[in-house]
Amino acid sequence: MPNAYQQMTTSELDATIAQLEEQVAKIRALGLKLDMARGKPSSEQTDLSRPMLDLLTSESELVDEGASADNYGFPDGLPSARRLAAELLGVDAQNVIVAGSSSLNLMHDVVVNAYTKGIGGNAPWCAQGEVKFLCPSPGYDRHFAITERYGIRNVPIAIGDDGPDMDEVERLVNGDPTVKGMWCVPKYANPTGVTYSDEVVRRIAALKPAAADFRVFWDNAYAVHDLYDEGDELLNVFEALAEAGTKNLVYEFASTAKVTFPSSGMAFVTASPADIAEIRAAFSIERVSPEKLSQLAHVRFLRDVDGIRAHMARHAEILRPRFELVQLKLEEGLGGLDVARWTHPRGGYFVSFDGPAGSAKAIVALMAELGVTLTGAGATWPYGRDPLDTNIRIAPTFPTLANLGAALDIFVVAVKLVSARLALAER
Ligand SMILES: Cc1ncc(COP(=O)(O)O)c(C=O)c1O
Repeated sequence: MPNAYQQMTTSELDATIAQLEEQVAKIRALGLKLDMARGKPSSEQTDLSRPMLDLLTSESELVDEGASADNYGFPDGLPSARRLAAELLGVDAQNVIVAGSSSLNLMHDVVVNAYTKGIGGNAPWCAQGEVKFLCPSPGYDRHFAITERYGIRNVPIAIGDDGPDMDEVERLVNGDPTVKGMWCVPKYANPTGVTYSDEVVRRIAALKPAAADFRVFWDNAYAVHDLYDEGDELLNVFEALAEAGTKNLVYEFASTAKVTFPSSGMAFVTASPADIAEIRAAFSIERVSPEKLSQLAHVRFLRDVDGIRAHMARHAEILRPRFELVQLKLEEGLGGLDVARWTHPRGGYFVSFDGPAGSAKAIVALMAELGVTLTGAGATWPYGRDPLDTNIRIAPTFPTLANLGAALDIFVVAVKLVSARLALAER
């Protein structure tokens, strides 16, 4: 169906564009500097975790269930930290390694290990000619950057309301031995906010890869990041694997980056016993043991899954008004024009916005001119190539509510002007 601008007569459209250009000139004159680019928590949110910093002092007991946090040893992480991570993911603590402060770092290292050393006795990916990763898109640019860096071909896969297009995933994974991996953010995906349906999780768990060294990189970054008491429910992928009788298919990652402190959280990985043994062996070459003082502070602060949920409810109180403001401003500004659609996530860190074909780069550029930084258009697609140039990732968490509101008002004007200009250019 034609959008509101496409339905106008040319003279109506000219007048509308002139009016929008006037609004843009006024905004430009304000010389604003606003940032809606990256998914970072606001300082109100990181403040919630400051009490954690008081839990370790020079007087503190630094032993955790017999493990010294102030020395080498316990290469899989402190026992209580592994248990906390296991509880959060619903897996066996024996199969969990807690290491470092960044889950992305762990994903990178696992990819590099497969690339240089191989998985399960298979040749390293680097020695197998062209290898590919499936990339549900729009997706997380930093995932795509890891595989791109090692020359692995990133293949975009459509993502719908219930997860990736599984017909396509099954066709490629089960039929093509050069497909070695798949990036997944199964809950409140970055940037769509979609949570994979039970059926999608089951179909992923039942994959019969043509390559023995194919693995799913299950990045459960937003496992506990609900905005509402009733959060989306994600089926436990390891339970689905057990049901399907599938053995070594999934590496699951997560961290407390957006629970406590980004870049100073606690990151973890879990996999089947055989896969985690291989990861453990690779990590043992990288360092003697992980940093454990932060793990100790985390377990003393968060305690258990109920502690995490209570803490996340406080994050949600801060975030809910921001996400609701996005919906309100977009609906008020663009509802009824049929120029755009956007997602309505119930958790996570992003709203995914799609304007008319050919609009995203122009909108982001106009926003930059007006003093509002957005994630680069195309960033949500492999190689920065959004085939229809429609997708923009909105990250509402970091700005204050007032700045977010101001940025969204400008965004609405930018979307309207770019859409109206496109409608005129089509004639
Ligand atoms: C899907 C996803 N995974 C991982 C990360 C980064 O996590 P970490 O700080 O644990 O490396 C982010 C951060 O935005 C993310 O959105």
